[in-house]
This record gives sequence, structure tokens and C-alpha cells, in this order.
Amino acid sequence: MATLAESRTQFTHLPHPAPVADSVRAEILANPGFGACFTDHMVTIEWSDNAGWHSPTVGPYGPITLDPAASVLHYAQEIFEGLKAYRHPDGTLALFRPDANAARFNASARRLAMPELPSELFITATEELVRADANWFPTVEGGSLYLRPFMIATEAFLGVRPAKAYKFIVIASPAGNYFKSGAPAVSIWVSDYTRAAPGGTGAAKCGGNYAASLVPTAEAFAKGHDQVLFLDAAEHNWIEELGGMNLFFAFADGTLTTPPLTGTILPGITRDSLIQLAREEGLDVREERYSLDQWRDDAGSGQLIEAFACGTAAVVTPIGKVAGRDGEFTIGSGGPGQLTGKLKARLTAIQRGGEPDSHGWVHHIT
Ligand code: PLP
Ligand code: COI
Repeated sequence: MATLAESRTQFTHLPHPAPVADSVRAEILANPGFGACFTDHMVTIEWSDNAGWHSPTVGPYGPITLDPAASVLHYAQEIFEGLKAYRHPDGTLALFRPDANAARFNASARRLAMPELPSELFITATEELVRADANWFPTVEGGSLYLRPFMIATEAFLGVRPAKAYKFIVIASPAGNYFKSGAPAVSIWVSDYTRAAPGGTGAAKCGGNYAASLVPTAEAFAKGHDQVLFLDAAEHNWIEELGGMNLFFAFADGTLTTPPLTGTILPGITRDSLIQLAREEGLDVREERYSLDQWRDDAGSGQLIEAFACGTAAVVTPIGKVAGRDGEFTIGSGGPGQLTGKLKARLTAIQRGGEPDSHGWVHHIT
């Protein structure tokens, strides 16, 4: 008989009545795109203030039932993560730095007044889903299984206070290239809107931040750009981050800079990994403020040679063009740069098992 503690962390596996047909799945896996198709299963874990985390389950992917008064639907008490699983050349499956995602998830939970999920349970939940959907890895080059863990407030209560019941869910989506255009370098639009202010929720991965970015993102798309760039709230001068990615700038003198973690941008795990890899390549990496005006001037003078976006979904993506209300400018040749390519190659080789992992970043799923 399982002890009470075990019953709270032992997963129940529910049979799937009708998984996606092999032929349909094969078609999806050959051309997955990003975020449009989902696997056969999902993980759910419940939380209540008297029982804590309980009832972990791997079951069929499908709609969830919520009370119309559930807090998440009114006050947006929701957080999420994004991480990828890879099939290595020897056939084994691995996650990249899931402990870092678990830690960031709990930092987001604290900011949104939600219960923390033990890191082991976060990682076990993602492993369970990857095992259940191991036949959902894309067959295209650069493909992976994107995992989306998230937590919502489920208590039916309209008073404004932290809810007393939550649901943690993990879903999975076979992923190829994030950017539909498939262009070698992306174009970004500098928004006049603000994404996050000091003391706000900018460093948390909560749905509300993304809701507020949708009008600026739609504006960027309408003007023909791939992503939106946000500047700081106070001076509208300092570069913060893109709608769903961090940024790096490479200079002719061998320095690489990225905006500092001041609480208004997401502390990206790709960003952190690239800082370490670039230092190993001998670059002088600095976390320091950089203004839009300086960026324009440096791109013009040739001091700035490359810029790139990075994130789990975007991996490492060169930025070719920047446009805003004061006109536009091109970076380098407007195409992918050498350093960007080198850092991307090193990062993806580690993630995909093409290079030994000397950092303890690769988490094998057994
Ligand atoms: N910034 C924002 C706003 C994001 O949504 C993401 C994506 O998760 C990132 C940065 C990059 O973070 P990571 O490298 O951990 O995926
Ligand atoms: C991720 O990279 O995981 C994100 O959450 C960003 C989003 C653009 C999908």
C-alpha cells in the first residue's frame, strides 16, 4: 500500500481511448511548425490549501472543465514555462536544464501569489509526459518536443485575493521553426507600448505579460516585422527584450552585451546558457544597458556587427533589420553573422547530444 506521501507523487496513468492515427501523426511530425498541434497526453496535478499537491495523472489530452467563476478567468492568476525535449543521436531522450525552468516557475509562482511546486515534481511531470508521448518527436531537422507546463487558479471566488485551489498541467507540442517566414534573419519593430515597469511582473512568466504584448505584436506583424521590441518604461530609451525572446549585441572589439536582469525582463535560460558559452569562447560578455539610439549609431558606424534574439522557442535567431517610429536601420549585412552562427551551433550541439555536456545541463530521461 502506498503511503500518503507516495500517493501524492505517484502518477496515475489513464488509458487513451483514441490516440491520433499513425498516418496523421507522421504528417504533423514531418512539418510541425510551432504550437499548433498537440500530443496524445497531458499531465495534471491538483493543489488545495488543505491537501497541497495531489492526484498527479498522465491522461488523454483534452478540454478541461472550469467553474465560470474560477479566479484565472477573472484575475489572470496564471504562470507558465517553456522547455524542449530532444531525441539524441543514440535514440535516448533528454531535457535541457529543466531544473532552471522549475526554479523560474517557482519564482513566477511567488510573484503571482501561487503555491510553489517542488522542483522534483515539476521535472518528473515533464519526464512522464515525454515518456507517454515518445512517438511525437518531429522528424524534421532542428525539431524537438516543446513542453508547456502551466498553473491556473481554479477556485470559484470573485473576491480579489490569492485563490485557494490550483491546477498544474503539462502539455506537449511537436516543434520546428518558431518563425513562419523561415527568413535567415528577422526584422523587429520597436514598440511605443511598454511591456513591464519596475516593481511589476516583467520578470515573471505569467500570461498577463503576454496579453499586454498582443496589440504591440499585432502592430509589428501588420507593419511586416517578425517580432516586437520593448524599451524601458521610465525613459523609453533602454532596450529590454522582444515579445518572447532575450537579446544580444556583438561588437567589432570582441564584446558581447545583453540587457541586465533588473526585474523588468524575463531571466532567459537560453540567455544564461549563451553567456556561459560565449565566455568559454573568449568573448568579453557584459550584462549592461544599451540604448536604441546607441544601437542605431553603432550599426551605422560598423562598431556593432551582429545582434540576435534567443529563447527556447526561437533558439538563436539573427536580427537583420530594426524599425521604429524614427525610421529603420540594418545590422551588418542584414543576414546571419558568424558569431551568432557559432554560438547557435554550440548550444544546439549540447542540447541535441552532438557535443559532450560539460555543464550538467542535459537531463537524460530514463
Ligand atoms: N523573454 C520572454 C518574454 C520570453 O517569453 C522568453 C521565452 O521563454 C524568453 C525571454 C527566453 O527565455 P528562455 O530562454 O528561458 O526560453
Ligand atoms: C518560449 O520560448 O518558451 C516562450 O515561451 C516564448 C514564446 C514566444 C513561445
